[in-house]
Amino acid sequence: MAGVGCAAVGGTGFPSHGPIRAGCCSLAPWRSLHNSAAPRLSVPPCISLYPTARYLFAMAAPQKVCVVGSGNWGSAIAKIVGANAAQNPKFDSTVKMWVFEETVDGRKLTEIINTDHVNVKYLPGRKLPENVLAVPDLVEASRDADILIFVIPHQFIGRVCETIKGKIKSGVLGISLIKGVDEGPDGLKLISDVIQEKLGITMSVLMGANIANEVADEKFCETTIGCKNKNHGALLKELMQTNNFRVTVVEEHDVVEICGALKNIVAVGAGFCDGLGFGDNTKAAVIRLGLMEMIAFARIFCTAGPVSSATFLESCGVADLITTCYGGRNRKVAEAFVKTGKSIEELEKEMLNGQKLQGPATAAEVHLILKHKNLIDKFPLFNAVYQICYQGHPVAEFISCLQNHPEHM
Ligand SMILES: NC(=O)c1ccc[n+]([C@@H]2O[C@H](COP(=O)([O-])OP(=O)(O)OC[C@H]3O[C@@H](n4cnc5c(N)ncnc54)[C@H](O)[C@@H]3O)[C@@H](O)[C@H]2O)c1
Repeated sequence: MAGVGCAAVGGTGFPSHGPIRAGCCSLAPWRSLHNSAAPRLSVPPCISLYPTARYLFAMAAPQKVCVVGSGNWGSAIAKIVGANAAQNPKFDSTVKMWVFEETVDGRKLTEIINTDHVNVKYLPGRKLPENVLAVPDLVEASRDADILIFVIPHQFIGRVCETIKGKIKSGVLGISLIKGVDEGPDGLKLISDVIQEKLGITMSVLMGANIANEVADEKFCETTIGCKNKNHGALLKELMQTNNFRVTVVEEHDVVEICGALKNIVAVGAGFCDGLGFGDNTKAAVIRLGLMEMIAFARIFCTAGPVSSATFLESCGVADLITTCYGGRNRKVAEAFVKTGKSIEELEKEMLNGQKLQGPATAAEVHLILKHKNLIDKFPLFNAVYQICYQGHPVAEFISCLQNHPEHM
């Protein structure tokens, strides 16, 4: 029976990982199905395959994957997922990538990607695997997917969900790589919760110190998957992990996600300091105080489960914060904001070639929550970023907020 496995599909559309009883034997077929290192499944002669059993043993269909988004990070992750799916029979070898269609040098971006296998606008100079198929129609791209990877700027997630609602498979597993939060009528909302509510699908998240260009260049880094379900976490790790992109799976998915959003606010502060000519000591203080505010905010906001310090030591926490405060686009634009006196919107257009900035928008969303809870005084760094970006406060106020931070009082 080598090569025969179980297609028992649970509510999520994934094969059950628990042992399956068939007659007198207990089997854990999923592991043995596609992993050549694992012992092959053998069925004792006492078992004949009745229809139900035959169904259970039928070959599990390879999981179809769709990357919803094709910006800088979307393309980098498609490069990884495409390469992994091409050589792992658990996954369908074609990975669809939804591309918001644009014309670049007189050609459609989808046509460029499918012909030249490079996203010349958002990830120039890096080849995408040929099994990554750019699809301009969102419904067509996502319709038959078993795994949806959401990786678009958070501003667009509402419209994306409306477009595919009711048009995707039931039991799809979703994973959000989106860094940001949504501002709902009842306050702040995690993007994964927005997707889960709108589409009714199980969501996980992936966040980490992952500047897309470096990941695409296969420079070593780590990342964190936040996932409540161990089996889903293992499957997603298998889809995403490479030798140079090491994945840790943790259960505190909401903490992982809130870290990914909040660090962008801190990075704007780091950029202000660079623009004002401060040095590495100041930036280290911004990182530390920012981390303290991130932890404090998570403890207020993530009430569904524990908020452990250990999660902040994962790639999604302190590592992502450091890399964003040194290398990210939020830092870069904030530095230019100080040096040029131009508005954030102007600089976003001028400097980011269509990419979107998350830090200032997240500061505004967080500000509303803190104001509502009467907690602004406890988060002076977050608040100063908001006031400088949106209320015309002088940038020098950022330094006084550090000097008077409650951590020093
Ligand atoms: N770039 C990184 O290094 C990086 C790393 C980790 C996480 N992230 C996160 O990943 C998410 C996606 O970022 P990115 O870097 O892939 O995107 P990006 O900012 O590089 O690109 C913008 C994307 O938005 C699309 N777009 C433009 N207008 C649109 C519209 N009206 N509707 C829908 N889509 C539209 C563009 O086609 C493009 O694909 C963000 O939340 C970001 O914070 C980025």
